[in-house]
Amino acid sequence: MARRKIAAGNWKMNGLAASVAELEALKAVDASACDVILCPPATLIAGFAAAAQGSAIKMGGQDCHSDASGAHTGDISAEMLAEAGAIAVIVGHSERRADHGEDDAMVRAKAEAAHRAGLIAIVCLGETEAERDAGDALAVVSGQLAGSLPDGATAADTVVAYEPVWAIGTGRTPSLDDIAEMHDAIRAELIKRFGAEGDGMRVLYGGSVKPGNAAEIFAVSNVDGGLVGGASLKASDFSAIIAAANG
Ligand code: 13P
Repeated sequence: MARRKIAAGNWKMNGLAASVAELEALKAVDASACDVILCPPATLIAGFAAAAQGSAIKMGGQDCHSDASGAHTGDISAEMLAEAGAIAVIVGHSERRADHGEDDAMVRAKAEAAHRAGLIAIVCLGETEAERDAGDALAVVSGQLAGSLPDGATAADTVVAYEPVWAIGTGRTPSLDDIAEMHDAIRAELIKRFGAEGDGMRVLYGGSVKPGNAAEIFAVSNVDGGLVGGASLKASDFSAIIAAANG
């Protein structure tokens, strides 16, 4: 089935108010045939959402708590992100799984919270280098997929991002054949569990996506766009990646 590609930018812990200049420079990009979701730090979402009005660029959060409110110092709920102007939230990024001990059950609860708040959940999966070297990549990602996606997830409210941990921020990427093998396997599992909704769910690749490799990666079977870290920080680079997603 034909799926509309997504170019998603994850700014991680980068960006101050002055970074709105990058957003302003992005606004002219042709995104008529793809979706663009920029995930700046939570402090910038409301301002960026206002600045992006009238453009194709939508906002996303980078994480949310599973509860709507409560005594969780420093956390942010999906409802808060939605009110700030986000349409999506990344959950289960490998940096949160590693730095904050998030397991599949917690990621699934966060995805459910995103849906409760009307946000698209961008659910991240990916093996470590040791797991790939041991030949376990498919099994690891399949287990994360089973544990992290909520029952009842739909093509409209859920996006999967396959991000091999060893490719994040390293300049290294899997071969196109390895990306195809993983994305085909993810698609098969999504269809098995969610039927037609699983066929419609977008599956993004993430990990050292750059202007120079985006087009060839986005052309791979069952790759429906990218989740981009470092190269999303500069409008010139991210524009080129959006152009690759736009086709
Ligand atoms: P890089 O594009 O910097 O490798 O980061 C990928 C990533 O983690 C996006 O979520």
